[in-house]
Amino acid sequence: MMKKLHDLFQPSAYKLSLNIDSSGLKFSGRVGIRGKNITKVSEISLHSKELTILAASIDGKEVTFHETEFDTLVLMNDEVISEGEVEVALEFTGKVTDAMHGMYPCYFEHEGKKKKLIATQFESHHAREVFPCIDEPAAKATFELELITPAGETVLANTPIKSQRSEHERLITQFETTPRMSSYLLAFVFGEMVSKEATTKDGVLVRSWASAAQDPDWLDFSLAEAVHYIEFYNDYFGVPYPLEKCDQVALPDFESGAMENWGLITYRESALLSDPKNVSLSTQQLVAIVVAHELSHQWFGNLVTMAWWDDLWLNESFASMTEYIAVDALHPEWVMWEEFIGHDGVAATNRDVYSDVQPVRVAVNSPEEIHTLFDPAIVYAKGGKLLKTLRDLLGDDAWRAGLTDYFTQHAYQNTTRDDLWAALSKHSQYDITKLMNTWLEHSGQPLVTVTQNGINASIIQQRILLDGKKDSVIWQIPLLAENAPDLFTDASGSIDLTNSDWLKLNSTGVGHYVVNYTNPEHKKALASQIADPEVSSSWKITRLNELVMLARHGEGSLQDALEAIKSSQHEPRAAVWSQIAGILGNARMMIEGKEQLEKRLKKFTFQLIDWHYTQLGWEYNATESSNETHLRTTALALAVSSEVPEVVSKALELYRKTKDHETLPAELRSILMGTAVRHGRPEEFSELVETYKNANSADYKNDICAALTSTRQPKDAQQLLDLMLSTDVIRPQDTARWYIYLLRNRYTRDLAWNWLKTNWTWILENFGGSKSYDDFARYSASFFNTTEALGSYREFFEPKKSDPALKRAITIGIEEIKARSAWKQRDQAMIAEWLKEYSAEN
Ligand code: BES
Ligand code: ZN
Repeated sequence: MMKKLHDLFQPSAYKLSLNIDSSGLKFSGRVGIRGKNITKVSEISLHSKELTILAASIDGKEVTFHETEFDTLVLMNDEVISEGEVEVALEFTGKVTDAMHGMYPCYFEHEGKKKKLIATQFESHHAREVFPCIDEPAAKATFELELITPAGETVLANTPIKSQRSEHERLITQFETTPRMSSYLLAFVFGEMVSKEATTKDGVLVRSWASAAQDPDWLDFSLAEAVHYIEFYNDYFGVPYPLEKCDQVALPDFESGAMENWGLITYRESALLSDPKNVSLSTQQLVAIVVAHELSHQWFGNLVTMAWWDDLWLNESFASMTEYIAVDALHPEWVMWEEFIGHDGVAATNRDVYSDVQPVRVAVNSPEEIHTLFDPAIVYAKGGKLLKTLRDLLGDDAWRAGLTDYFTQHAYQNTTRDDLWAALSKHSQYDITKLMNTWLEHSGQPLVTVTQNGINASIIQQRILLDGKKDSVIWQIPLLAENAPDLFTDASGSIDLTNSDWLKLNSTGVGHYVVNYTNPEHKKALASQIADPEVSSSWKITRLNELVMLARHGEGSLQDALEAIKSSQHEPRAAVWSQIAGILGNARMMIEGKEQLEKRLKKFTFQLIDWHYTQLGWEYNATESSNETHLRTTALALAVSSEVPEVVSKALELYRKTKDHETLPAELRSILMGTAVRHGRPEEFSELVETYKNANSADYKNDICAALTSTRQPKDAQQLLDLMLSTDVIRPQDTARWYIYLLRNRYTRDLAWNWLKTNWTWILENFGGSKSYDDFARYSASFFNTTEALGSYREFFEPKKSDPALKRAITIGIEEIKARSAWKQRDQAMIAEWLKEYSAEN
């Protein structure tokens, strides 16, 4: 069992100097740590990993040292160290490795030369790879950082530069002392960069940076967004942004999406850069959401930090909800809450049905476990949904007042969820602990079975588990219906309604549960509302997903969902169409490989979308709404996938008309390129592969990736799979994306799966020990839908369950494929029958 080192030694101030050799990929350093010794023993333990310790002293006296398990470095004094203030000093060396954590290089090309930025990624426990420290979130201390780097390069860290001088081709930079903060939030970046800057109305300097290979104008959008969000949060949280400056850097190599280092936020390029002349709505929304997410962490996470990783959800669920508050405030025309329900709401519901899915809050014994506890559908989506439910119940005024208290009371300290509940409880009549804790600590969600009789309804709650297991947990369910009480808190019972209108539970879509209405008339009444353009889209999205969930659970069939969308031709909201497209995707899975049935489904698809397709056409128009722009993209994607000849030839014509495909309208770019891949000439595929190799824009590269991976030619797919092993073409940060896309495509799935099996050692070498490692086990299960595939998944992954980093992903993966193939067996024949209506003759 791992001990928390912070219980024995509590650092208050670090002085850290690092001398970095970026061409030799190594560094040497000195650290002085002032801190409090808690118990009278003759040793002090720090975290240190893959560092070579050259010398160590306590209060100026040399000590011996050795390393033990859990990355612990033990400094041994020859006598007992007195309680209270001590000064520890160490000298060490270390390596800069490609792993994308600790200190690592990011590669780019500029003016024909290969160059690097050197960057850090310390969350969750990688600061120890750069200097010995107490690498636990509760060990807050100040940091005085000095960096010695190549002359002529830009150097950034959490705080502004205090002094800088050159000596013998080296640049020595001292940074202002940081506020008290956790080690995982320390960061620096240096190299050749371009930037743009602005100032908030309260005088905070905000800058956006990218490698010298990028056009600085591509930083404009994210910079403007950042300024707005800092101003927004200052006001919303009632506590000012705590630092003098905020830098954001787009890094050419970056493992996750972004990282909230205090005052120096790092991003992958696709999450920060956007072409001001040609950007899609979805890219703008992504950039806005990621920037708003990381900026919300500057308060929630950085100013006030969870005491231990078991409350990591507090950081991530909070940011996952708050990002929408901020983006919605700045871009009301985007109607972001609809997107929230359609993405996060649906993702959480779809995932939270397997026995082994983790709860939002989960015990963590060692930081190694954190990587495995990062199920985004749970920690981000479900957690965010639960907080949104809570905020809706309390009202925004109480929510904000509680947060202001929370930040004021706990600034520069650590908290647990009880501190948050206590702050919010002061502003509410609800028993928040009682309301929230089951949702947080227990996995799963209830199936709410409703039988309505006039002004009375009987309700039963029972956890949904696709493997048929039982669980007796009881949740506090917010009913979210106009004519029902606020909460239902029993296993079963009856409720009085204020009128006899048909109940519409979860009308806002934020409730984390699935409703089964037993009365056929009730179901019918609700089904007719789906085609009603006036009805709230959040409810429609939720209800459509509910129909799919009921089918997956065996309470109905996918046919109910297909029937429900059959009259949706005039549905006005793009977010609802994303849900409709999801249902069509499920139908496609049911009949996969059966070409005649696939044709019928395409016919149905085009009948559904024809009206919007004709209305919206191919051209963007400057006066249209965001919804229309979004809807056109969805409509064209569906129309192209229906393979109506005139649609396909129009797409090819547009593709061929433009020589530089990067300048194709960003909204349509991946659709048009994908059409060329599937329906164009073989050389058009090869040209796109070459274009990918030379492209500089991450956004464009993502579009090319989506297009190329939609190929139906085994030989082309094999070429892509081979390329995935050349990390100078496909960066390791993008490998999982390519793999998932090839797996999603039924024509290339087996090849992709074979690739994974054949190259597992390579995957282990490149991704083992990092946050995305278990993605390969997890996403491998996302598309398989037959018992043969289940067998193959099992055969390969079951022996790997002994790896603690993979165990959970594999266990859930098996459950997932089992449930999907059973569902397919149940519903397949019925869907085939249902599609008869769309045979060629009709
Ligand atoms: N703090 C996380 C990133 C992180 C978490 C890195 C744990 C290492 C360990 C960051 O705030 C985050 O959540 N990033 C997301 C993007 C976000 C917009 C959802 C990511 O990287 O996926
Ligand atoms: Zn986050």
